[in-house]
Amino acid sequence: MKKYIITTFILALIYACGGKSDQSNSNTPPPKSMITKPKADDGKGVGPFTSVDLNDPLNTDMIANGKAIYDMKCSACHRLTATRVVGPGFKGVTDRRKPEWIMNMITNVDIMLDEDPAAQKLFEECLTRMPNQNVNNEDARDILEFLLNNDKT
Ligand code: HEC
Repeated sequence: MKKYIITTFILALIYACGGKSDQSNSNTPPPKSMITKPKADDGKGVGPFTSVDLNDPLNTDMIANGKAIYDMKCSACHRLTATRVVGPGFKGVTDRRKPEWIMNMITNVDIMLDEDPAAQKLFEECLTRMPNQNVNNEDARDILEFLLNNDKT
């Protein structure tokens, strides 16, 4: 069954122009909480994973568990080739993305789609929001192992 989900975006860009400037306060710096510095995009995505250690060689038990979860929860939307169905094909994903980004995408997809530029770009291409698959951290790590193996073979 194919489902086409058409999502309409309303992008409201609100600019605060600050028409009146209060000269008397010009020497008072704004409170720290009001300064929002955009975080530099380190390619690791948004979420709990900031550092992931990789195995060398890859762990076969983890690959097997990762594959089982892929078959059950991901294969409806993701092929292991480069072919896109609902979501992008997984071939080459571990070259395109950092391990941390992949782990954050799997476990924290809603925030990733709201805040991560690379995830948002994918959404623009796929026009479907990847649903949260309720994958725990350990299983997400096993899926990563499986994806690393998929790109090796
Ligand atoms: C209902 C369809 C669907 C299911 C099920 C799904 N995804 Fe996705 N996935 C997507 C879509 C669509 C995108 C592209 C981003 C977007 O539009 O939300 C995506 C993007 C991704 C990406 C980024 C790919 C890239 O090229 O950078 C990863 C990694 C990913 N998904 C992993 C998974 C894993 C792991 C599972 C299973 C646990 C899974 N997805 C289940 C639809 C799905």
